[in-house]
Amino acid sequence: MHNHNGASPDVVVIGGGVIGLTVAWRAACAGLLVTVFERGRPGGETSHVAAGMLAPISEASPAELVVLALGLRSAATYHEFVAELAQASGQDPGYLRCGTLALARDADEAEALERELEMRRGLELEVRRLLPSAARRMEPALAPTIRLALEVPDDHAVDPRRLTAALAQAVERAGGVVRAGAEVAEVKLEEERVAGVVLCGGERVLARRVVVAAGPWSGQLAGLPPAAQLPIRPVKGQILRLHDPAGPGLIRHILRMAGGYIVPRGDGRYVLGATMEERGFDTTVTAGAVYELLRDAIELVPGFSELQIDECSAGLRPGTPDGAPAIGPGAVPGLHWATGHHRNGVLLAPLTAELVVSALLGESPSDELASVAPTRFAPAGVDAR
Ligand code: GLY
Repeated sequence: MHNHNGASPDVVVIGGGVIGLTVAWRAACAGLLVTVFERGRPGGETSHVAAGMLAPISEASPAELVVLALGLRSAATYHEFVAELAQASGQDPGYLRCGTLALARDADEAEALERELEMRRGLELEVRRLLPSAARRMEPALAPTIRLALEVPDDHAVDPRRLTAALAQAVERAGGVVRAGAEVAEVKLEEERVAGVVLCGGERVLARRVVVAAGPWSGQLAGLPPAAQLPIRPVKGQILRLHDPAGPGLIRHILRMAGGYIVPRGDGRYVLGATMEERGFDTTVTAGAVYELLRDAIELVPGFSELQIDECSAGLRPGTPDGAPAIGPGAVPGLHWATGHHRNGVLLAPLTAELVVSALLGESPSDELASVAPTRFAPAGVDAR
């Protein structure tokens, strides 16, 4: 389906990644006519590369308490979210309640892990300190040399490729439209409010509400006054996908180490990531990054050396100056943002959709929405219109 039987959409969503598709699905379920414009294929960029950790506790930082609060709330809804999505789409979104082990390989890393433990306990997060012997009972493939482990029982994972495929299906089943290969060239304003979008190629689509969910490209949208743009930047992550020819079972938990993580899919496939690099829109894969990721993983799990490499790729996370996402209405009436999720887009998708749809429906803004207001980036004293 390419239109709503000739009717203009109530809402245009720019970007068909995990955020845009979740917003579109929830908006369609709320009775809005939604069209998603995705310049490539749905879930084909950042979401395609993402590992899919649902890890607010492992990723917690005292400098990012807003992100922690949002992450905990979104994680608490995930089980229900994927169950509803499976029902709506008829597809398995690949959710795995696997828990996480954070591991130290030497004395320095063990000291750092003790500090991490204290910080998380201070924030009243559920984390257990494990001796190496206990960690190896849980994961026998761990190297005998590990020094310390923390168990984070509530940090799980989902397969973002399955998730986005299920979401695209759910959007269409709910009456929404997902247009692949359709790039938005600019947002159209009339009388200082959103009037629609123009696609590359010239097609004009009228809509009074536009949601920008274009991930790391969200800061490049034409048609907006400069002061209404958001300072979103790409943060590169290189990542590997491997599988065990011997089948599942080598590792059951997400494993985290200094500088990386291993995420099991539960079927003998593993994701090994990821670098954090400020290199603009570069998505090349480098020998050094692949070497370091594999070296660290094999040191932690010697049996990893038997795995076969399926894919080496690089994705771009959408970063913001303060590390928190930009969700909700912006400076231009009718324009909503759902971007800047950095390392947490897959985790924050359900909550983001809830907040955006509530704003689209004109409900009164929550405190949560205030903490991620896109307008916090507006230069002081400049009228965005
Ligand atoms: N969420 C992990 C990452 O962005 O690498």
